[in-house]
Amino acid sequence: MVTLKEILARASKEHWAVPHFNVSNLEMFRAVVEAAWYKKSPVLIGTSEGERDFIGLNQAVALIHSYREQYQLPFYLNADHTHSVEAAKKAIDAGYDSIHIDLSKLSIDENIKGTREIVEYARSKNSAISVEGEIGYIVTDSSKIYESVVEVPPESLARPEEAERFVKETGVDRLAPAVGSIHGIAANKPHLDFSRIERIRGVVPVVALVLHGGSGESDEQIKMAIEKGIANVHVSTDLRVAYVDALKKELAKNEYAPYKITGPALEAAKTVVAFNIDLFGSAGKV
Ligand code: G3H
Ligand code: ZN
Repeated sequence: MVTLKEILARASKEHWAVPHFNVSNLEMFRAVVEAAWYKKSPVLIGTSEGERDFIGLNQAVALIHSYREQYQLPFYLNADHTHSVEAAKKAIDAGYDSIHIDLSKLSIDENIKGTREIVEYARSKNSAISVEGEIGYIVTDSSKIYESVVEVPPESLARPEEAERFVKETGVDRLAPAVGSIHGIAANKPHLDFSRIERIRGVVPVVALVLHGGSGESDEQIKMAIEKGIANVHVSTDLRVAYVDALKKELAKNEYAPYKITGPALEAAKTVVAFNIDLFGSAGKV
């Protein structure tokens, strides 16, 4: 089967993006793989530290193996927003296909040091593991609906010179530069800095560029970001909102069979996954 690194290289070259969806339970996991199977799309399934604590690290790995075997499609598991070297090593040891080591809140020197340690550790265990590093920082949190306008401070954005140094000194496979998006959904739709994406693309041509904060952006902004060089887009809040809203509706009914309550929530999440697969242009790519 094609590796995640190969799929990302192809997406970068052909100007489409591999979708990344966060999941925190079996129903959401199923929603992603079933929609990706239906759309014949590669997909990255992400679990943040909290999400994988909830599902179980080894259980998340067992699930991805089981679904990959069943569907025979490039479905991969990412340890999303991993904030420490120790937690990243644990995910590598458990068998994750991909690690997002996010030390973006530290100084650039500390960020480079910790990220490089994880790149080296991953390579020593399994050369197919894809490692993502992050520079600049995102000011908000996933899963939150902000009722006010969220401003993105210019100093939070990633600088091309920093991107060049970071990639050279760490050897990451993917780079997530802050380019104006936010986690969660705000009252405004933040504007992405397309020229920054282009400039960063120009100085680090060998890595796949990642866009975090895929919820709450306009479809046009996402499409343009992909056109300018983004090859992987993360979506979490939109999926959670669809799932929880559908669940609330079912809970209001006189029904006590859990699968009958969570089934419609799974279907609602599936619709969001399918929509984004079409938006990112990854349908039919496998
Ligand atoms: O890593 C997760 C994402 O960046 C999700 O962002 O919650 O705005 O979709 P989102
Ligand atoms: Zn993110």
